[in-house]
Amino acid sequence: MTICSRIVGTGGYLPQRIVTNWDLEQKLNTSNAWIVERTGIRERRIAADHEATSDLALGAAKRALESAGIAAKDLDLIIVATTTPDQLLPATACIVQAKLGIAGCPAFDIQAACAGFVYALALADQFIRCGQAKYALIIGAETLSRILDWRDRGTAILFGDGAGAAVLAADTIPGVISTHLHADGHFAHDLQVPTGVGRYPGIELDKALISMHGSVIFKLAVKLMESMVDEVLSENGLDKTAIDWLIPHQANIRIIEAAAKKLAMDMTRVVVTVDRHANTSAASIPLALDDGIQSGRIQKNDLLLLEGVGAGLSWGAALLRL
Ligand code: ACO
Repeated sequence: MTICSRIVGTGGYLPQRIVTNWDLEQKLNTSNAWIVERTGIRERRIAADHEATSDLALGAAKRALESAGIAAKDLDLIIVATTTPDQLLPATACIVQAKLGIAGCPAFDIQAACAGFVYALALADQFIRCGQAKYALIIGAETLSRILDWRDRGTAILFGDGAGAAVLAADTIPGVISTHLHADGHFAHDLQVPTGVGRYPGIELDKALISMHGSVIFKLAVKLMESMVDEVLSENGLDKTAIDWLIPHQANIRIIEAAAKKLAMDMTRVVVTVDRHANTSAASIPLALDDGIQSGRIQKNDLLLLEGVGAGLSWGAALLRL
């Protein structure tokens, strides 16, 4: 009997504080009209000073466990995808594990920026297929507000904080059908936090801020989102009409619309949260997935295409049946 993995629960967690485009207009040379037209973003959530990435991750994890109907002690694996870990070490996944009140199962972080959740999903799927885990908790969690240059209108308007999680369980019916991971480090300098203890010892980490060549990343993101559609469909021998829901990384509504166009998919079949959450990097896909499920739009047995592109460049897609 072949063992596969299936998503059996999801959860999302957003900090309470909402920062609107109007709020940013007061501080930056920008306007609500520009931000909405060029990105689709209207507001974002920002973590309170006392909230760490692990706190947001914990909130999402608890909701995912509840929706899966399992206890934390049942978990065999925890993976946290994040660009903004609580500390350089230990892994945020270990901090979340302790906050969940459990010990023993492997817990580690992965860093694949906005593609992080799809990378975590692919890894957890492999653990389950190999028989090394029955239940896996995967989380995308970010406090990007801590690495934003709030004086830079080119980046400060784009990002937000939040966390999304999913529980994968071993099953004989395939939920996760295929995963597709890629990276190309030649574009590392186009989207980066140009500091870190390994490359620049002695640099003050509180000066670690996102810098991005926005239009370069924009063009690459459109191209890669489109190419992932082709890859997933051709590798699975599917026609584009087979996909019920597109759950793309939420960076910019224009990038999302390009991916939907490639699938000839009406925007009513695309989960969009970028207007309310902005870009939450590794958290954006699981937050959108949870949003689609909690709102009752995504139903059991629907065929979902998840796609993410981010710094690295790293990109990845997953085809799954709920
Ligand atoms: N308000 C007003 N004007 C602005 C703002 C702003 N917030 N930001 C830029 N502008 C101006 C620029 O200065 C420029 O002015 P100029 O023509 O006088 O020089 C003009 O608007 C156009 O700037 P562009 O950068 O060309 O604008 P573009 O349409 O490309 O939009 C944006 C910029 C929104 C950043 C877009 O490039 C984008 O979404 N890029 C991709 C981001 C992304 O997908 N990231 C994904 C990964 S994130 C991760 O991995 C963590």
